[in-house]
Amino acid sequence: MKNKWNSTIENEKCEVPAKFDNVASSYDWLTSLNPGYRKHLTWSAKRLGLGPTPRILDLCCGTGISTEALLDVYPGAKIVALDASLQMLECAKRKRRLSNVQFIHGNAENPRQFGVNDSFDGIMMAYGIRNVPGRDTCLANILTLLRPLGRVCFHEYSVVDSRLASALWNLVSLGIIIPSGRLFSGDASIYRYLRRSVLEFDGVRRFEERLKELGFVGVHTEQMDGWQRNVLHSFVAARPEAPA
Ligand SMILES: C[S@@+](CC[C@H](N)C(=O)[O-])C[C@H]1O[C@@H](n2cnc3c(N)ncnc32)[C@H](O)[C@@H]1O
Repeated sequence: MKNKWNSTIENEKCEVPAKFDNVASSYDWLTSLNPGYRKHLTWSAKRLGLGPTPRILDLCCGTGISTEALLDVYPGAKIVALDASLQMLECAKRKRRLSNVQFIHGNAENPRQFGVNDSFDGIMMAYGIRNVPGRDTCLANILTLLRPLGRVCFHEYSVVDSRLASALWNLVSLGIIIPSGRLFSGDASIYRYLRRSVLEFDGVRRFEERLKELGFVGVHTEQMDGWQRNVLHSFVAARPEAPA
């Protein structure tokens, strides 16, 4: 049953891209204070396990830090990157390293509505699925955008299965993330939402089940290191082989 907290979070999800517009200019700098941010994105990119010249979709690409991690691991990749925040996308487009990336302004819930029709070898969604209001719709659409045996990685926080992880998450978000967000971007609302949305997001087992119920195969979860162990995860899954 949904409680008041859940329904508030659901309403807030629609406003998330606009909130990111407000913090876009400070986003890369703020994330650079977290030494694990880029390293863990690179781990998730590697865990996609793609070949040397893959076609990749980066959903919720933001300022392109996840896109850069994908290019670090797959320098020969052709990447389409989508985000709903125009200001975050503007920051990504300014990066010379990303000049060959095709950027699309759109909603990750249904990328096809925004002209994303290809079949991808891999899809990365870093800090995205938690924010999309129609979680199952988004996941079902992702499945159809993968080629048979294509792989997806959801790089995402999930803490509710572990009391220790939930307590650590509260400590870090209340003690570091929200105060630094307020100090350096002048707008802490997205960081307050971040804390609550992580506490609301599926536990690891529930998210894995959700993926299996929707038809993904090879579903498994890999860990990060440091304080983000059991807090941030790579959820990896694949599209089944096409029937003969
Ligand atoms: C925390 S940032 C992550 C950016 C990037 N993936 C990274 O790892 O640095 C989350 C991004 O998701 C975007 N976003 C949130 N909801 C979205 C939606 N429904 N469709 C597309 N983008 C969305 C936001 O605009 C924001 O840029």
